[in-house]
Amino acid sequence: MSMMQEAQMKSPLHTLPRLSAMLDREIWIKRDDANGDILTVGNKKRKLQYLLSDAIQKGADTVITTGGPNSNHARATAAMAIQLGLKPILVLGGHKPESKKGNHLLNHYMGVDVVFSGASTHEEMEKALNQHVEKVKAEGLRPYVIGVGGSNGLGSLGFVDAYFELKEQATEKKVQFDWLFASAGSGGTIAGLIYGCYLHKDATRIVGVSPWLRTAGIKAKIESCLHEAVSLKGDGRKLHLDDLPVYIHDEYIGEGYGYPTDGGMEALHLLASKEAILLDHVYTAKAMAGCIDYIRKGKVRPGEKVLFWHTGGTPGLFAISG
Ligand SMILES: Cc1ncc(COP(=O)(O)O)c(C=O)c1O
Repeated sequence: MSMMQEAQMKSPLHTLPRLSAMLDREIWIKRDDANGDILTVGNKKRKLQYLLSDAIQKGADTVITTGGPNSNHARATAAMAIQLGLKPILVLGGHKPESKKGNHLLNHYMGVDVVFSGASTHEEMEKALNQHVEKVKAEGLRPYVIGVGGSNGLGSLGFVDAYFELKEQATEKKVQFDWLFASAGSGGTIAGLIYGCYLHKDATRIVGVSPWLRTAGIKAKIESCLHEAVSLKGDGRKLHLDDLPVYIHDEYIGEGYGYPTDGGMEALHLLASKEAILLDHVYTAKAMAGCIDYIRKGKVRPGEKVLFWHTGGTPGLFAISG
């Protein structure tokens, strides 16, 4: 089985029986935290199938990307590039950590070239990335450049496919979801899910929980991915988030990107203790905190069915202590 075929294997869909009983709502989970091994696992894999196929088609020998210092996207990009015989280079934001933990440790074991640029915003990271690309080209390499989080229209197509995968499984299990919750970091994941949901004419309400950007910033990123994905599909429509049943939240960020929150840590402990499923403190715990908050506030009404999309990221959890 080739790497790309393996990458297309379905991730499990199942109920969370003990959490559902505790919160008095039927809660399901889509396990993209279980769609690969520790190096390739997570939501980024679905985008990278498209992006790395494009890299190969364009004759690249190197893949260069960026992200935060403990970026899941960067680690998954490096791992999948290695499996395809491409050289990965990571130009990460922030500063070199004092000790190697989490994704940084995994990058070290993979022998990846990592540069820390000191950047802290998406824009600064992409600027540092582009400067490094010029250097790499001058060395005679043929780099394929992937921006923050692999979030563009092409990457989002992986999540249009993911929504189709979900529909097939949900039909088999005879379940229809009223709500879908997911983390929205750089926007590509949720953009693909929104477009997939739209193509199925589903009435599912999609809630995106930001771990980083304020609502206006993440909405702009989602919309840009959505427009690009729609045009890549040769679909002439212009979809606007405000016309769709989509809700984007920034109130679960807490102190900032990567800082654990009380709500997130409660969600992390609940999932681990009730279902033996690990969330990560940066993305999925905050998204689950949003989901639990919706349930506790009665926004998810009795009898409504909820899907939580677990986007992975567990290796990042091992960068902090408990
Ligand atoms: C574990 C995890 N969940 C969710 C996200 C957010 O996905 P996206 O950047 O496509 O919005 C990311 C990456 O940013 C991630 O690493």
